[in-house]
Amino acid sequence: MSNSLPIFLGVNVDHVATVRQARQAIYPDPVHCALIAEDHGADGITVHLREDKRHIQPRDVILLKQLVKTHLNFEMAATDEMVNFALEVLPDYCCIVPEKRNEVTTEGGLAVIENKEYLKKITAKLKERHIKVSYFIDADERQILASKEAGATIVELHTGPYAHTAKDTPERHAKLKQLQDAAAFAYSLGLQVNAGHGLHYHNVWDIAKIPEMTELNIGHAIVGHALVVGFAEAVAQMKKIMLQARGF
Ligand code: PXP
Repeated sequence: MSNSLPIFLGVNVDHVATVRQARQAIYPDPVHCALIAEDHGADGITVHLREDKRHIQPRDVILLKQLVKTHLNFEMAATDEMVNFALEVLPDYCCIVPEKRNEVTTEGGLAVIENKEYLKKITAKLKERHIKVSYFIDADERQILASKEAGATIVELHTGPYAHTAKDTPERHAKLKQLQDAAAFAYSLGLQVNAGHGLHYHNVWDIAKIPEMTELNIGHAIVGHALVVGFAEAVAQMKKIMLQARGF
């Protein structure tokens, strides 16, 4: 029995493209894996087209827009190139992320307070074309408030700092509490609350349990596990844990 709402899984297929690009090959194809994911519990597909195109390519995003039956969440830096590309492709969601050229993966949350006026302009442009706009931010009330003021519909809370702590430590509990408080605050402002980064099969439970959470975006752990159990099974196992955490 459950007294809460279900939770959605957004499967990030960037690292399928990482393997492909390692050899500049045509396989494995993130589009193929996205379609398998949708058939096995994914409620959405996420890709990040980085400025350096190190994994996802524009072609992947264009094909996904045509083929995805759930929703396409396009992660992008707040640059003119990416905004123009998003306005051409028209994904369902755009998640604006900070991007540094030399990082291995997205490191911190978006500095919304510091860039509020610029973000407001971009957000309005995207929303005009009926794209829902999400900001990837740290679990910080001031950034959440600024996101609301800049026009975001969704905040995606950065779970990296939580994921990088060891389990059952005071640090882990403190980071979890920050995320719980941030989710409640964002929800109270009328924002949809998503989360992601560094989530895996052994740390997702407590995040999925946060009642205000709508969607978790998970990539690396699922793609890694897929090498062992196959893509369909890796997605299904993650979705099962998330739903069980919610009492389903
Ligand atoms: N959400 C955002 C905004 C991200 O940048 C990433 C990493 O691309 C993810 C979620 C997924 O993170 P991970 O691959 O660690 O699951």
